[in-house]
Formats: sequence, C-alpha cells, structure tokens
Amino acid sequence: MSQRPIIALDFPNRQAIETFFSHFPKEESLFVKVGMEIFYQEGPSIVAWLKEQGHDVFLDLKLHDIPNTVERAMTRLADLGVSLTNVHAAGGVEMMAAGLAGLQKGTPRGEKVPNLIAVTQLTSTSEAQMHRDQQILTSLQASVLHYAKCAQTAGLQGVVCSAHEAEMIKAQTSETFIRLTPGIRPAGSAVGDQKRVMTPQNARQAGATMIVVGRPITQAASPYERYLAIKEAWEEQ
Ligand code: C5P
Repeated sequence: MSQRPIIALDFPNRQAIETFFSHFPKEESLFVKVGMEIFYQEGPSIVAWLKEQGHDVFLDLKLHDIPNTVERAMTRLADLGVSLTNVHAAGGVEMMAAGLAGLQKGTPRGEKVPNLIAVTQLTSTSEAQMHRDQQILTSLQASVLHYAKCAQTAGLQGVVCSAHEAEMIKAQTSETFIRLTPGIRPAGSAVGDQKRVMTPQNARQAGATMIVVGRPITQAASPYERYLAIKEAWEEQ
C-alpha cells in the first residue's frame, strides 16, 4: 500500500491549522508534517493534538549537533508518538546512529520506534553553492548519494532527497530505503520558490516512496479536493 501524500503544515499557529482542517471531513486520517515554525510556536503539545485528531505525524526538525546532544534530544522526541522524524546527514554517521539509539531508547515499551531519515543536500542548495559554501567539490548528485549511503550505514530507514535523485539512491541502497521528496507540484500549479519540481506521478516513476506537499494543498481554494487529486495522481501506477 502506498503512503498518503504528507501535507506540510507550514502555518504560524494551531488556530491556522484548525481553520485549514475545517476543509476536511473529520474522519479523514491525514499524514502531516510538523516543521520548525509550528513546533517552535506551539511546542510538543501540537503533536499530541494532531494525534488526538487521528493524524500521523512526520516531525521535520532536521537535528544536527554533537552525537550526545542528538541522542538525548531524540530520546525526548521518541515519546511524542510520531511516525517519522529526521536529522541532517552532514552531522555524520556517528551522529545519525546516536539519533537512532536515542529514538530506540525513548520509545515507550510496546510502541513502534519512529522511522528516522536523513536530509541529504537541501533542495534549496545548488551545486555552485555547495562548492562555495561547504567546499564539497564533487557533483551535487555524488554528494547526495554519499550522504544516502552514510545514512544507510548508520542504520537509518531512508533519506529526504529531490525526486531527481530518488532512482539513483534506490539503485545504490535498497528498494525499501525511504526516498521522501518535497518540491511536488501538480501539473499547472504555482512553483513558488521551489527550483526543481515534479508532478506526483513523475515523482513515483522517478523512484520516490513518499511525497511532501505544502502550498499546492494549504493555499488551494478547495484544499480537500486538491488533496484527493494529488493522492489519486500519486497512487496511479
Ligand atoms: O509548499 P511546498 O510544497 O514547497 O512545501 C514543501 C515543504 O517541504 C516545506 O515544508 C519545506 O520546508 C519542506 N522541504 C523542502 N525541501 C527540503 C526539505 C524540506 O521543500 N529539502
């Protein structure tokens, strides 16, 4: 069964999310992404509230610190009942493995340990920027692939990547290694600040296993209709 498209809840506060949810049938269970903006505004209670509404949560906080700090932070986050969370691969194999250990340690007995994935190169980073700012002198693709292999070595379940890199990562890691891709735009919708976009159908064909969609749904005149259309396109074989 394919995963539902993940809706990025890029809203300033819970009130705005409630207004957004009023467009959806109450019984519709969604997979939503909680990012830094809403988490820093509302705190961990926002996750508990979303779970109470019957939704699954991807907690997108992109941890990147020394291994001990990441492990301890993940031990705390493991208690929230999220399905998926992430770290930056640039923190290194040791840091990623520490994050995983923290999640395992903090997950209440009998509950499922959240999947942990790594951000490779941000989709906002160009190859020229990577050369200049990070002094990584390979191609962007080679860097993304290297980070994906590091994430696999650390025992993580997958990566966040551009749909343009998903097939390569699948070929060099495994079929089941998660390739979660943002930058999804249904045909004909506004691109916004995303540079390399793909339609849901193309993302699947390109090897993505999960998609994150924000503005095409959150800014739509009819968010539920738009969500269903994207879900259908994504599930189309
Ligand atoms: O509105 P849009 O569909 O562009 O939203 C994409 C979401 O995915 C945003 O929450 C953005 O922060 C996130 N994201 C991204 N590129 C990454 C990682 C996360 O666009 N590499």
